[in-house]
Amino acid sequence: MDKIIQEMSLDEKARFSEGKDAWHFADLPHLGIRSIRVSDGPHGLRRQVSSTDNLSGTDTIPATCFPPAASSSCSMNVDLIREMGAAIGREARVASVDIVLGPGVNIKRSPLCGRNFEYFSEDPWLSGTLGIALIEGLRSVGVGACVKHYAVNNQESYRFSIDAIVDQRALHEIYLRAFEMIVKQAEPQAIMASYNRVNGVYACEHPELIHELLRKEWGYQGLVISDWGAVSNRVRSFQAGLDIEMPYGLGRGTKELIEAVHQHIIQEASIDDSIQRILTTQENLNRMQKSHPVETIHWDEHHQLAKQIALESMVLLKNSSNALPLSPHIQYGIIGELAATPRIQGGGSSHVQAKFVETPLEVLRRKMPEIEFAPGYELRGVSNPELIQEALVLAEKVDQVLLFVGLTDYDENEGVDRKHMHLSNAQLELISQLTTKGFRPIVLLSGGSAIEMPWYDDVNAILHMHLLGEAGAAAMGDLLWGEVSPSGKLTESYPFHLEDTPCFQTFPGGNHAVHYLESIYVGYRYYDTFQKPVRFPFGFGLSYTTFKYHNLTTEVMSDGRVKVRFLLTNTGLMTAKESAQIYVSPPKNSPLFRASKELKGIVKTALSPNETKQIEFILSPLDFAYYDVQTKKFEVEAGSYLIQVGGSSATCPLNSTIVLDGTIMKAPNYHEACPSYYAPSQGFDDREFVALLGRIPPLEYQESQKITYDTPLALWQDRFIGKMILRKAVKEIKKASEKDSIAPYEATIAALPYTPMRFFVTMGGGAISYPLADLLLALLNSEYQKVFPLLRNLRLHKKEI
Ligand code: BGC
Repeated sequence: MDKIIQEMSLDEKARFSEGKDAWHFADLPHLGIRSIRVSDGPHGLRRQVSSTDNLSGTDTIPATCFPPAASSSCSMNVDLIREMGAAIGREARVASVDIVLGPGVNIKRSPLCGRNFEYFSEDPWLSGTLGIALIEGLRSVGVGACVKHYAVNNQESYRFSIDAIVDQRALHEIYLRAFEMIVKQAEPQAIMASYNRVNGVYACEHPELIHELLRKEWGYQGLVISDWGAVSNRVRSFQAGLDIEMPYGLGRGTKELIEAVHQHIIQEASIDDSIQRILTTQENLNRMQKSHPVETIHWDEHHQLAKQIALESMVLLKNSSNALPLSPHIQYGIIGELAATPRIQGGGSSHVQAKFVETPLEVLRRKMPEIEFAPGYELRGVSNPELIQEALVLAEKVDQVLLFVGLTDYDENEGVDRKHMHLSNAQLELISQLTTKGFRPIVLLSGGSAIEMPWYDDVNAILHMHLLGEAGAAAMGDLLWGEVSPSGKLTESYPFHLEDTPCFQTFPGGNHAVHYLESIYVGYRYYDTFQKPVRFPFGFGLSYTTFKYHNLTTEVMSDGRVKVRFLLTNTGLMTAKESAQIYVSPPKNSPLFRASKELKGIVKTALSPNETKQIEFILSPLDFAYYDVQTKKFEVEAGSYLIQVGGSSATCPLNSTIVLDGTIMKAPNYHEACPSYYAPSQGFDDREFVALLGRIPPLEYQESQKITYDTPLALWQDRFIGKMILRKAVKEIKKASEKDSIAPYEATIAALPYTPMRFFVTMGGGAISYPLADLLLALLNSEYQKVFPLLRNLRLHKKEI
């Protein structure tokens, strides 16, 4: 390998620091270096046919569409997620893809994040555990993984530039934890650095996050690549440890890198180190692929796996008077467009061109051919009185309405956050008209994130199907007819109202920064610690049977690990699976502020009626740790810990205390400076956040700031040049959507104000070149003295191409 590197010229080396095209790393055939191919695919392969296209929906090889992470996580079934990884991997191998861009393990900080459907959970341990399983599955068939988006990428508003301001404990305990687990336990081939800034520095240029933490402290050996169009400054990102800018920097970054070597800002040896990592990754992939020859894909098996995951992921939220399973003696009617046009996944870069999709309507009609259907609303969310009237007529005719509602592609998408947490007005009106007339529907809910349910009391049952994947409709059928019992559990809390969420005051922040004021109190860590009531707690999910948890024992073993054992009995009448959850509570009166409990174990098991199984789970010392801002390490506080076991974060019938000696503890006691973190009455406080963090930058851009390659369009869209670019972009997006795209064009257009010039240049298919962008920026900043030389550059550039 050293020999190959010695033979490379500086130009050739520098070329490796950017992609060859939208989906390939660079190659050098004359030295035998092939190109590594990557493709999106957290829940199914999105392998674009063209190497330059990254936005069309149909120019993609058809693949199995598994339920996205928001759904599959609810299975709490690690083995199934591993199998999903292997299936996606097999499809990747056949499509000649070396590395799949997934899993996405960002934390669901707010239910409003438009991309929550792509992420597993609000809990870092669960996200890390499921991420590891997916990577193991991919690796088992010779495919690499690229974990994303590193780090603190929890919103879509201003996603290309937002500065996420987060304190060190929240950073390490919540936002980095899943990445750390994955790096240490699953050794992924690549990590994708995110678009945003973290505490003032772009994630792609963050020496502390990449060089110090990832490589030095966690011992990461793989590649760090940028998210698509995320690099603001190539030299700085290279210095921080980023290996490859994706998709490509159109040559400018490479030139800058070479220049930086000539000026001794960067040592050529550090470029060699990066090439070494790229070549080692390639060797590893070659070895993995050799030992796992490409298999023929059994599409039907993959479809069945997608069904099994959907089956185990759907969550029964309510079932009054045993409305479910359905009865052969009741006449049902179906209302809701989502039954005919189901939402099987979210929109954006993870969008898969599914191979076989069945609709809930088709599945229900197979068993009940006579069943009638009324759409009730339009997916766009516009109220339609005629559709409502038709639905009411149908409801009158039948005994029980099956009502399909949920978030549509118009509500939830990559690139934009939701503005509210409720269903569309059209759906709410339909529900209200039905329920005020006394109909109590069975609700079949879709969506990739938490939803407010003011109509909860007025319906008979709620089965949350999340996003079904391609085979979810059949899975839904099995659950509705009682062939299988629901066993999914919520992997995010469902608050009553958006106002109840811990980051309500601060999400999504301003156009420049967002303050993570709630610190470690994300999701159930907040609701549970401060006893805030929620509609459904984290981990919640009903079954057609009942379970009894009993006989818990705990034992601290000589190696410091803790053995947890308990019995689980199926006390009902039906065979079913249960996801038992193990939580750890910290010592009482800790000088630190800590969450009242944290998830540290899940075990899913099947039990027939009256069957009892003994369940064993081993906790590691790290499961008791907090991040100490003084020692800069995870430490264990000495004291008594409560181990709690049960079927949800709010229902833990078993508990047992263990005593740990602990490690060094140097963390400061924040009681005086930050009382609200111990007991917030009116929410968290800016001044206390300053005490925690030391400084907080303003939320909004300062008017006097220059417009740069990174300034979101929102800040210059009212200027002539901004207006022109906006108009052109809207036109292009609409044109592309006529051919089919990966998201409704409304969503893509809504994301435009967040988009900076650098993204238009690197992702715009060459519509705006660097020389043109330089000129536009000079004009926007009224730097007229630069205009003539820049015009000359532009002319030269045009001549060159
Ligand atoms: C997304 C990534 C994705 C990449 C390539 C980006 O916009 O943030 O998650 O992998 O595009 O499609």
